[in-house]
Amino acid sequence: MPAKLVSDIRQKPAWRELGRLAAQMQRARVDSMFEHDPRRAERFTLEAAGITLDYSKQRIDQAVMQALSRLAESQHFHAAREALFSGAPINNSEGRAAWHIALRRPADAPLYDEVHTVRAEMAAFVDDVRRGRWTGYTGAPISDVVNIGIGGSDLGPRLVCDALASLRQRIHCHFVANVDPADLDDTLMRMDPERTLFVVTSKSFTTAETLANAQVARQWLLDNGASEADIASHFVAVSTNSQAVSAFGIDRMFGFWDWVGGRFSLWSAVGISIALGLGMEVFDELLAGAYAMDEHFLQAPLEENLPATLGLVGVWNNNFLGLPSHVVVPYAQRLAALPAYLQQLEMESNGKSVTRGGEPSRIETVPTVWGSVGTNAQHAFFQMLHQGVLAADVDFVLPLSNPDAAGDERERQRVANCIAQAEALMCGRDNQALVDELTSQGASGFALEQLLAARRFDGNRPSSTIVMDRLDARHLGALLAAYEHKVFVQGVLWDINSFDQWGVELGKTMAGQLLGELDGGVDAVDHDASTAALMNRVRRAWNE
Ligand code: F6P
Repeated sequence: MPAKLVSDIRQKPAWRELGRLAAQMQRARVDSMFEHDPRRAERFTLEAAGITLDYSKQRIDQAVMQALSRLAESQHFHAAREALFSGAPINNSEGRAAWHIALRRPADAPLYDEVHTVRAEMAAFVDDVRRGRWTGYTGAPISDVVNIGIGGSDLGPRLVCDALASLRQRIHCHFVANVDPADLDDTLMRMDPERTLFVVTSKSFTTAETLANAQVARQWLLDNGASEADIASHFVAVSTNSQAVSAFGIDRMFGFWDWVGGRFSLWSAVGISIALGLGMEVFDELLAGAYAMDEHFLQAPLEENLPATLGLVGVWNNNFLGLPSHVVVPYAQRLAALPAYLQQLEMESNGKSVTRGGEPSRIETVPTVWGSVGTNAQHAFFQMLHQGVLAADVDFVLPLSNPDAAGDERERQRVANCIAQAEALMCGRDNQALVDELTSQGASGFALEQLLAARRFDGNRPSSTIVMDRLDARHLGALLAAYEHKVFVQGVLWDINSFDQWGVELGKTMAGQLLGELDGGVDAVDHDASTAALMNRVRRAWNE
């Protein structure tokens, strides 16, 4: 285990140095750095596992990157990485490993044998379903899979199924997460009960939303001609809690382990929907891409390490340049779910204000992560990115080719827009060119001044561009693993446990208590006046 960090990180020489560099950087322009260094683009571009990271438009230079590396070393980065890969209990508040890297090891170099046993069970089941040997209660083959799960039991498989939808054959996957009945009801409306397989995915198998939706789905089958005995052919579970799964009445469970965090679980049996919808070989490719990135992350020195660089640059932007937002803009419709996936990955992991040693954190931890798909985002929040008071750090994610749109003219527009936005954020608009343009249109005096002020576009706003040759399983696996390791690196620098989520647990418990009180079955506890008034309002609405 890495040594406990007792000192205030702000007193470390590397932190102080970064503070000094940040003060200098506030006066520097990145576009001029390109003019002074013809090799800048090359110097600040990394490639690993088919992913290219161009971070040359960030407000960094060699001195900043070196100081960030020194900071990582002073936070025992190498020991922490070793602990991650060796399965040490780095999730110290729960006494568990965070060993998702063991899930993507190839079968001939396993770290944990049971991973491959479950994978073989998954493969056999997927083959049965896809070949029509596993059927619904009338003997009809399965045509639709509905994954019922939330958070990490939803976002990862949903993202991958969306991203690789062009590979879909015969079986369609659907994802239901929300306890709002509209989510499941709208999905069921499109399903044929004889051909629908439900995958109830829940690590704990206690998550209220998931269990409530699974009960409704079960009843829907019974209401549509299935008998109790037929349920077994329409329900499987993915969980670590076999007792709760049997108590629910599901016979077939694909297991995983407590050392797989929910938001890191898509590589386990939680990804079974991916394999059912797209094929086991696609799932294997996804794992292979992630494994290639794991190997890179494990072996590459810090200055050549792509995920570590993503993490270090994020720390620089957040803690030294004071940028409170990290914006993710994938330029691919099929990656529209990426920002939501990364919101959980980054903010559930690093949204903490206590150190691993239990002291209050003295520095900022995770920034707000948000985003949306390009080019749509250009017509929504890009105005703020370009001219808002607060700058943000942007990740542009750009697959160069889209398997199902080769040769389409709009593809060229998609790619060109992405690159142009990153350039515009950095370069802004040449003020003299704007003056010339407005003057040639007849503007002068006060009107010219006003127009100039409104259209002024300073630039110098940081972004990274993450390019993948193709939107396929291998590249996607590598991309997601890179983000996972970025989150880990930041947790190490901020000295927090990235692998628990106690903040979410409180809300879950309180929702259960409050529902019990509203239903009248649970003794009331004291509530603040606002909560009590809201509850009364609900009671009135429910009694109307
Ligand atoms: O949001 C809290 C959380 O525990 C996540 O970490 C997890 O991914 C999600 O709930 C779902 O949990 P489970 O898989 O146990 O249903």
